[in-house]
Amino acid sequence: MRFDIVTLFPEIFSGFVGESLLRKAIDKRRLEVVTHDLRNWSKDKHQKVDDRPYGGGPGMVIKVEPVVECIEEIRRLHAEPGELILLTPQGERLTQPLVEQLAEFPRLILLCGRYEGFDQRVVDLLQPRELSIGDYVLNGGEVAAMVVIDTVMRLIPGVLGDEQSARSDSFSQENRGLEAAQYTRPRSYRGCDVPEVLLSGDHAEIDAWRQSQSYHKTLSRRADLVGSEGDSPRRPETNEGEKREPVN
Ligand code: ADE
Repeated sequence: MRFDIVTLFPEIFSGFVGESLLRKAIDKRRLEVVTHDLRNWSKDKHQKVDDRPYGGGPGMVIKVEPVVECIEEIRRLHAEPGELILLTPQGERLTQPLVEQLAEFPRLILLCGRYEGFDQRVVDLLQPRELSIGDYVLNGGEVAAMVVIDTVMRLIPGVLGDEQSARSDSFSQENRGLEAAQYTRPRSYRGCDVPEVLLSGDHAEIDAWRQSQSYHKTLSRRADLVGSEGDSPRRPETNEGEKREPVN
């Protein structure tokens, strides 16, 4: 899968792209990440890409010509034209099911805004998919683009060691609920013990306990996720796990 990022601040991505899982996925040729500096499409000798808004008002607006010409040019860099995504607080909210849809595309082009946003004709002419990562305002789309890359890349085959672990993440199509608590050694620390059931070796019991934990944790923290049938974490057969252990 290929990500193209269009930004006024390409350096923001260098640490992110250079580190850890993303670096490994790039080295294994599972992913390609290419940044494009929007200023390279400026027609101005000072490489300005913004201007004052018509009608007055605070802030600056990113001009239409550099954006449209940049996107047209980078689309031609690869056989796949790519799905164009504009990161904006006004977009559709990013959720795990949407991340799963995005992971099906062979190429995503992520357009990051700054200042007071883009000239409306960017949207009218390019018709991007507009995405928001949440109901708060960032200084620009760069952090949101990293969130998109981080969440999508985990679903690309061969990127994580164990693919199943991403498919069954909280909020995924497979598992709409929150995950059960996890433990590792030591068995006992400062009076806090690992639940007995996890030491039992009885996998059916362990699954039932995890299902129950997940269900009750979701109900108490995120009742909004426990919706209609098929859209909610599975109700456990019994609530044994709940009786045995408090939910964290
Ligand atoms: N740009 C500024 N705020 C944003 C948000 N919440 N999501 C996506 N892009 C943004």
